[in-house]
Amino acid sequence: MKKLTGWKSRDIAIKILNAFERDKRLREHVERFTSHLSPLDRAFVRELSAGTVRYLRLLDFSLSKFLKKSLKEQKPYVRNALRLIAYQLFFTGVPAYAAVNETVEAVKRLLGRKFAGFVNATSKRLINFDYRREVERISDYFERVATLYSFETWMVRRWAKFYGRKETEELLRSLNKVAPLYLRVNRLKITPGELFSILESRGVEVEKHPFIPDMLRVKGRVSIETLPGYREGYFYIQDPASFLAAYLLDPKPSELILDVGAAPGGKTTAISSLTGDRAKIIAVDVSRERMELLKSNCRKLGVSNVSFVLTDISVDGKFREKFKSSFDKILVDAPCSATGVIRRHPEGKWNKSIELIRHNQRVQRALLKSAYELLKPGGVLLFSVCSLEREEGMQK
Ligand SMILES: C[S@@+](CC[C@H](N)C(=O)[O-])C[C@H]1O[C@@H](n2cnc3c(N)ncnc32)[C@H](O)[C@@H]1O
Repeated sequence: MKKLTGWKSRDIAIKILNAFERDKRLREHVERFTSHLSPLDRAFVRELSAGTVRYLRLLDFSLSKFLKKSLKEQKPYVRNALRLIAYQLFFTGVPAYAAVNETVEAVKRLLGRKFAGFVNATSKRLINFDYRREVERISDYFERVATLYSFETWMVRRWAKFYGRKETEELLRSLNKVAPLYLRVNRLKITPGELFSILESRGVEVEKHPFIPDMLRVKGRVSIETLPGYREGYFYIQDPASFLAAYLLDPKPSELILDVGAAPGGKTTAISSLTGDRAKIIAVDVSRERMELLKSNCRKLGVSNVSFVLTDISVDGKFREKFKSSFDKILVDAPCSATGVIRRHPEGKWNKSIELIRHNQRVQRALLKSAYELLKPGGVLLFSVCSLEREEGMQK
């Protein structure tokens, strides 16, 4: 972990964690609270808050061993400062004195000396705490594993049922890793080879994907906004698996393609990149806000052959009538519970429920059914989700 570069990173991280507690959103709060920071400080605050959210259950479990009054009864600033300290001590290379002192100073600024003293005293006891040994004492398998990897027990139970215990533990480990950064080359503006050379010549450590020429991996911690080619729209930040959905659709220049659930445009712009912006794409999304993001991403990447339609095709009879049996290819990139991208969005550990999975399943079925009516005979319909749940990935 890089050194603190001067801003009051812990104060901000604690405020982000407080806001996260209220609505279980993370990215929005990180953006809001860090917009005035330098890229490096922003990355550090993001890492502190995302890391704390990632390991929330284990941190709370550990802290509960030292507190007379439960964490819930503590003031939010105190609760989140303690979590933040535990995260730094257990999972980062930040020296213990810095992790504790900087955070205690933040509490002093936010709440005053008395509470800072309490946080300081509790933190000292955390420094040599062996959380693994404590977790080992939990007798129930699911509780133990869910605590160790910091997931909800019901999630671990259902994955173990689908995938078996061994695979589930591997899955939990991998969902806890920090996701690598991939750039998908925007072929409308540059070739993979050219972008690779530009990045390398500007000192960015970059690596080709082993089998997807369009993807470049950026190594080390960088700020995306300062990467060469960012402003020019030479690339789009996208995971290889997300790009593969567009690739597997096998879009051709002459085709009429429907992209359902298109915003913010990772796959729309990938389809355009793959077809030299020659396939005609109708991009549909139900969210006005996200549709604006899609439009701005298309503008930035030089994607022009797209019509944007703000609608829900499962209720919009007029749209279905107009485009009945019209499309050569349809991509339904459905809203889902997104458990497969927890690595990138650790807040996803704490905002899911069985009800949400069932709700998504209903929405997905409705979208699939409507999309099918719009497909030309012999056309291709591709359904994709970023969820690990069987109910969502294996529609019958
Ligand atoms: C997984 S995200 C799409 C990601 C996007 N395809 C990409 O690659 O960047 C799912 C999208 O479906 C949209 N959505 C949700 N319900 C919808 C519906 N009933 N009709 C159309 N879009 C919907 C959401 O607003 C969201 O933007």
